Amino acid sequence: MTRLLSGRTAIVTGAGSGIGAAISELLASEGANLILVDRQPGGLASTAQQVAAKGVECRTIDADVSLPDAADRATSEARQWFKGLDILVNNAGIALTGTVVETLPSDWDLVFGSNVRSAYLFARAAIPHMRESGGGAIVTVASEAGLVGFTRYAAYSASKAALINLTRSMALDHASHGIRVNCVCPGSIDTPLLRAFYDAQDDPAAARLQDEIDHPLGIGRVEDIAEAVLYLVSDRSSYVTGHALVVDGGYTAR
Ligand code: NAI
Repeated sequence: MTRLLSGRTAIVTGAGSGIGAAISELLASEGANLILVDRQPGGLASTAQQVAAKGVECRTIDADVSLPDAADRATSEARQWFKGLDILVNNAGIALTGTVVETLPSDWDLVFGSNVRSAYLFARAAIPHMRESGGGAIVTVASEAGLVGFTRYAAYSASKAALINLTRSMALDHASHGIRVNCVCPGSIDTPLLRAFYDAQDDPAAARLQDEIDHPLGIGRVEDIAEAVLYLVSDRSSYVTGHALVVDGGYTAR
């Protein structure tokens, strides 16, 4: 059976854990060669092993995605090992809690560095390569927190809203180059990031229960987001660009 992404090359950031690991495995199952980027070498190695088991080629880059070096290295690897780049998934991100008063300027910069600057840097490095390959698809992992206000998540929710409008602007700028740009807005997905959030609450079990109640379909799985990303990077969404695909179990339907 023909795989949806046979012969294509994809960069996935934040590939060493949670949603990024699931996206990497699904894209590999559909035949994409991968460049996995993360700053956790252990997580990267584990995802690389899963990906290699799908019979595709894979390279890993241990780097901080908020610095230009990571994006330059990833796109150079694409060119050197795979002769081009077709897909970029900007997934890496961090979440720090706090109102604006509680958020230190250094923490604000950390959140915007990992979440927004990284997406800008990777898109900036990737788009010239995609143009050479005749087009491509960029998908960014935003959040339900970019669509509605979130209590004590000032920097995080602002960063995710920024990603949604960066998506729309890039979609307009690069449609004529054959590059589609979309994002997904996950709800609460069971990953180390979400578990750390619950653990930081006074009563982690109560926090999780409330989150389940707030999401009509409950807490989501990493595969739910990976499937949405696969749709947006594949030709099945060939007429979709500038879109924010909400995969939040109904959270924002209220
Ligand atoms: P996670 O913490 O399990 O995985 C994130 C990965 O990104 C980690 O491996 C981490 O090392 C990497 N990363 C973060 N900043 C980095 C940096 N500066 N340089 C290199 N690597 C970096 O988190 P999860 O849940 O898988 O999150 C993935 C994305 O999904 C994030 O952008 C997050 O904001 C978003 N998201 C997650 C939700 C959830 O409920 N889990 C909900 C909505 C959005």
